[in-house]
Parts: sequence; structure tokens; C-alpha cells
Amino acid sequence: VFVGFMGSGKTRAGRAAAAALHGHALDCDELLEHELGHSIAEEFERRGEASFREREEQVAGALLGRAGDGDVISLGGGAVLSPVVRAELARHTVVLLEVDVDHAWDRVAGRGRPLARDRDAFERLFKERRPLYEGVADAFLPPSDPGVVLRSLPALRKLAAQPPGTRLLWATTTSREYPVLLGEGLLGSGSWPTDTSARRYCVSDETVSALFSARLPPLEGVVTISPGEESKTLASAERVWRALARGGMTRSDELVALGGGVVGDLAGFCAATYQRGVASVMVPTSLVAQVDAAYGGKTGVDLPEAKNYVGAYHQPSGVLVDPGTLRSLPEPELAAGWAEVVKTALIAGGDLWRRVESGDPLDARMILDCVRTKLAVVSSDERDAGRRHVLNLGHTIAHAIETATAYRRYRHGEAVGLGLLAALRLSGLDELRVRTAALLSAHNLPLVLEANPDDVVAATAADKKRTGSQVPFVLLDGPGSVRTGCLVPGDDVRAAVAELTVAS
Ligand SMILES: NC(=O)c1ccc[n+]([C@@H]2O[C@H](COP(=O)([O-])OP(=O)(O)OC[C@H]3O[C@@H](n4cnc5c(N)ncnc54)[C@H](O)[C@@H]3O)[C@@H](O)[C@H]2O)c1
Repeated sequence: VFVGFMGSGKTRAGRAAAAALHGHALDCDELLEHELGHSIAEEFERRGEASFREREEQVAGALLGRAGDGDVISLGGGAVLSPVVRAELARHTVVLLEVDVDHAWDRVAGRGRPLARDRDAFERLFKERRPLYEGVADAFLPPSDPGVVLRSLPALRKLAAQPPGTRLLWATTTSREYPVLLGEGLLGSGSWPTDTSARRYCVSDETVSALFSARLPPLEGVVTISPGEESKTLASAERVWRALARGGMTRSDELVALGGGVVGDLAGFCAATYQRGVASVMVPTSLVAQVDAAYGGKTGVDLPEAKNYVGAYHQPSGVLVDPGTLRSLPEPELAAGWAEVVKTALIAGGDLWRRVESGDPLDARMILDCVRTKLAVVSSDERDAGRRHVLNLGHTIAHAIETATAYRRYRHGEAVGLGLLAALRLSGLDELRVRTAALLSAHNLPLVLEANPDDVVAATAADKKRTGSQVPFVLLDGPGSVRTGCLVPGDDVRAAVAELTVAS
């Protein structure tokens, strides 16, 4: 069942999917107009919206009740307002076609739709309905053409067989599309995001391997590294490459990255380069990796000179996220991941920021929304040419802190928390800085930098976004409103870093 706001392309998607499945394309709005004998706009004029909603509930309910395997229903944008319809949807695979409000307006304005006459009202409706769509959706497809619907169809079909509550996100980038499966209990359930009958090799760290490698599908071999950032080196990459070569891994095999962001970045890099590229599957087990590092295809290792300095873009072939693995994650690691959640919420703004700011607990939905935020950014700019820079909010200073402290003093997430505070100071958002500091502090994240500020400022010069002698910063106008490429006077950067070294 396709759901989504007006203009999200439900009718076209439904027709394409039904044709591919040799089922019926059942369009709720078309059926309604047929039964009414006139257009929906005319029904609004004659009897008003409330009367229309009653009819819509009956037609949608009947469709959902009688649809068979392979049939595809496109629901009207407002059908999910009905609790009866929402209850019926629980029996089906519900796919949310994402669309942003500007595109939706462009597609439907001026076409006689009764609820698309006034732009402000349209935007209000969009915000009101979004949580309803998100609440019923099992799968999330990015704004797209029917091609994406067709390519994601095998994964959508398999969703009904996954453990209850599993969500599917379809990640799109220029180089590759891939499924992200997210759900409690997925690891060890037999679910797997890729279809291949490929042989699997695994890279993990010693801690995570001991906890979870037995829950993976059968493996040809496991290579483990010592836990922690200090293992994200070329020397570790060489160990992995050579172990894979000795183990006979070929280009038709799959490399599984089981662990946190360090394992993901390292294994992803090894997958990008081993025999010039093999498929990788991410199985993130830390919060940093589940909300951020496992998606988007940035892989690599650190140099003593600077962080993430050697690497490659290599999108995974699939991601399997089981939030249940976070139960064994030590508290400080969970806190470090929380800093990435705060960063993502500041970038996303809206409902995610509201929930994070008001102290909502971390749950699968919050992880899901962080992933959606990241995937939406990456899909528009895989190779960091512009839009993707927003994801580096707080990271210019964070990476400099990590480099200046030889990757030993701070976890990545802890450095990100400090980097966010500096970015908010440079953004001139004093009140938001205070609120963010309170959020970080509530998770026992450090608010005071224990490092030489001059070393940190010097290390910012190595930032990979630098052009010429200037390091551009990512700054905020407010939650959800990010500016990239901001040139900041050196004195301001020094002051923002120096401020971090003083307890307030
Ligand atoms: N590629 C990207 O887009 C991206 C994005 C964000 C961060 N990163 C990178 O991620 C790295 C940080 O990731 P991290 O914070 O996950 O660090 P990490 O991989 O070192 O994991 C942190 C610690 O938690 C342990 N651990 C992981 N999962 C566990 C579990 N379920 N139970 C018990 N222990 C567990 C690990 O053994 C390790 O000791 C940094 O190198 C950062 O640059 C990459």
C-alpha cells in the first residue's frame, strides 16, 4: 500500500508496482471518483470535506479488506486520517513515498485540488499529516521516479517475512541503491539485506566479534582488530587485505562490517580497495554507527597527521541495524553516539529536534529518523560537493580535537559534542549553545576541552573542506537551518576553541 502526501507519486508508483507483480493497481481516489460520478473537488464543493472523508474511509477500508497478494493500493493523501483505515493498514506492507513540501506543491498547485489552493494551508497540512504517514509506514522510499519503486520491489516483498516491527529504508545515491533493514531482534533472525548467495567474510573488533559474530549468517572467515580509533590505520587495512587474500576472498564475495564506526570505516575501505572493490554489508553495533557511520559510503583510515585522510567512497550493498545490540554498549559509548543524534537533530530541525530537545528517550524511531535525515542528504550529494557538507556540523573542530590529542583522549562522539558547541558559538546562537550544552551534559558528555587550544586550531588547517588557505565552517541559523562554506575570522575560531577549555 502506497501512502504519502499529495504529489508524492502514489498513483504512478502503484501502477508500476502492480504491473511488475502481475497484480491489480487499485487507486483509492480514482475509485472514489468513479463511485461518486464526479471529481473529488466537486464532492468537496457539494458536500464538504467531512462527508468526503466518510466515503473515503468506506472505499479505502473495502479496498484494504479485499486486496490480494500482488495487488497494490494507492491510498488518497488524507485516507490515513481515519483510525479505521490506519488499523486496516497494520495487515499490509505500507510504503511511504517521501516528498518534500516544495516539490509536492510544484506538482499539485493549480490543478484543481481542493486542499492545494493556498500555499500556507498546504504547508500546515503537510506538517500535520507527516507523523501519520510515518506512524503507519513499514518502508520509506525517497522522492523518486517509479524506477526506484521497481528496484526496491524485491526488498519490499520480503518485508512481510521479516520480524515484526522491521522497517525498510531505501538508500539512493548516484553510484548505488541499497536496502537498510532496521528492527529489534534482526541480528540472528536469519534476515539479511542482500539477496546474494555470496560467500561472506567479516571484519569486526575483538569485543564485538565475541558478542555478535555467531549471530551472522555462515562466514568463510573473520578478521578482528583491537577495539578503538587507534586501529583505524593503514596498518590495520593491510592486515585485513592480507587475511582476505589468504582466506581466498574473491570479487563475488561479500565483506561484512560488524561493529562500530571504526570497523565500518576500515572494513568499508578494505571493501573499496580489495581487488579494486567488493560488496560490503554494514552491521552497525554502536550508536554512532547506527545513526550515522554505517550509511553514505564514506570509508577510510586516519593518518597521524589528520583524521580520515585516506579513503574512498564505497556505498554498502545493504545495512542491517538491530538496536537490540546497543544493550551491551558501555554507557560512555552510548553517550558518544548521543552527540551524533544531537548533531543530526540540529541539522534536521522540526520534529526530530523537538523530540531530542525535550529529552525523549532513544528508541528505534529516533534512530530511524536520524538515518532518514542522513540518507536524504547523501542522496542529493554523494561525493560531498556541497549539500553533504551540512553533515559536518561541528566536525571541523571535532576532527581537529581528535588529531591534536592523537586519537586517544576523546571518543569521536565526545569530540563532536565539543565541536558542536564551538560551531554554535561561531553561529552566534548563544541560547541554542546553552540548550545544546545541557543536552550533552545530561548524557555526561564532556563540555570542557582538555587539550592545548593552539594545537586544536592548528589542526583545523588540515580540514578536508579547506580551499586555499581558508577553512570553511558549517554553521547554523537555527535547528534545521544549516549554512555551509562559511568563512570565519581566525580570531573567532581561536576564541571559540579557547572558550571550550574553560569550565562555565
Ligand atoms: N563514515 C562515516 O560517515 C562516519 C560517520 C560518523 C563517524 N564515523 C567514524 O566512526 C568512528 C567512531 O565510531 P564508534 O563511536 O562506533 O567507535 P568504535 O567503532 O571504536 O566503537 C566504540 C566502542 O564500542 C564497542 N562496541 C561497539 N558496539 C558494541 C556493542 N554493541 N556492545 C559492546 N561494545 C560495543 C567497540 O568495541 C569499541 O570499543 C570514528 O572513526 C568516526 O570517524 C564515520
